[in-house]
Amino acid sequence: MKILVIGSGAREHTIIKALRRDPEEHEILAAPGNAGISADAEIVGLNPANPKVVTEFAVTSDVDLVTIGPEAPLVSGVANALRTAGVAVFGPDKEAAAIEGSKSFAKDIMASAGVPTGKAWTVSTHDELTTALDAAGAPYVAKADGLAAGKGVLVTEDREAAIEHATFYLQHGDVLVEEFLAGPEVSLFFVSDGHRIVPLTPAQDYKRAFDGDEGPNTGGMGAYSPLPWLDEGFVESVASTIAQPVVDELAQRGTPFIGLLYCGLIVTDDGVKVIEFNARFGDPETQVVLARLESPLAPLLYAAATEVLESVEPPRFSDRCALTVVLASEGYPENPVTGREILGLDALPDDPNISISHAATAWDGSDLLATGGRVMSVIATGATFADARESAYATLERIGLEGSHFRRDIALRVVS
Ligand code: AMP
Ligand code: GLY
Repeated sequence: MKILVIGSGAREHTIIKALRRDPEEHEILAAPGNAGISADAEIVGLNPANPKVVTEFAVTSDVDLVTIGPEAPLVSGVANALRTAGVAVFGPDKEAAAIEGSKSFAKDIMASAGVPTGKAWTVSTHDELTTALDAAGAPYVAKADGLAAGKGVLVTEDREAAIEHATFYLQHGDVLVEEFLAGPEVSLFFVSDGHRIVPLTPAQDYKRAFDGDEGPNTGGMGAYSPLPWLDEGFVESVASTIAQPVVDELAQRGTPFIGLLYCGLIVTDDGVKVIEFNARFGDPETQVVLARLESPLAPLLYAAATEVLESVEPPRFSDRCALTVVLASEGYPENPVTGREILGLDALPDDPNISISHAATAWDGSDLLATGGRVMSVIATGATFADARESAYATLERIGLEGSHFRRDIALRVVS
């Protein structure tokens, strides 16, 4: 298959590497990609968020399948344009992607579909904000309604801090005040063809910047999979009470969801509840989910894109332990320092249990530079989480990037 992967993160690099492991050999193109991706795919220089540009390229290049990684092109309608032109695309139209792009839309869908989630108040003024915060009580949860790259959410005991955070985002649009949900978080992805769904495998993301879940929220600093502490039947239950009702509701509204439905969940004492949906693979959870994928990826994505999900075998996963640790630039997430050289990758020993997916990297002549906040994901697999952690952290110690930081406690809670 000739496949175009849209995006430039470690998620897209991981998707490309998984496609490369399929029994069938694919021709893989990436736009805009990054330095690491350029070793695994042909880089195409185009604006990935421009529907017309992407569609023209896909049509004239006879691309069989387009896979869209990030949310921005989905929300800007890249999938709509491709689908209208008859190109198979894994990624929802913008109307369905609004389940990620607008938190109040997601709440509306959940209310209609009877999906369990926290109580929420959509506010647009300072007065509404303080009334909602007082109704919700501490800890306070305030979220920007639109896309904010994982940084629009503040969870705090401090009412003034919640007001300050929300006031900033109120300049750009609505804010959601939400009931605080207590319990461990789970990310569970479903592939949907608009009507049918198949689950991938649960993962847990580490959203805070520093060890012990301290510091600000980030796009994600690490992840692990599987989650040995989940109840049996968890996946089936989320499929039937959350993912399928949401996919059915979107189909009923005439905006079928074709792509990856990311369910961000909290396992509360009162059952599993949704904290967010995303309309795309999660980053960095994809790094650990696909590390355990044993069945071919392209046929799965293609079957969803062409609305015949029942025609492929459901995804199969190994029972190995996978974890990923994100190497971040100094100052991430607030003010990442960029342009510094990354050292040591060439000298890493060949280890089949280790894989590195690049995020913000670029070549400057023969120097590899860090160009953003989350620089790369080190992914390790092992028979146990202890083994996988040892491999991942030994690798990170060998990578040099001045001022960089990473969390040292990824998957520590599941080391027995
Ligand atoms: P979101 O972008 O909605 O996934 O929120 C980012 C992070 O904030 C989540 O992963 C949770 O750790 C936390 N969070 C969001 N909403 C809630 C909530 N209602 N209760 C508790 N924690 C939350
Ligand atoms: N890891 C969180 C996300 O992809 O949104």
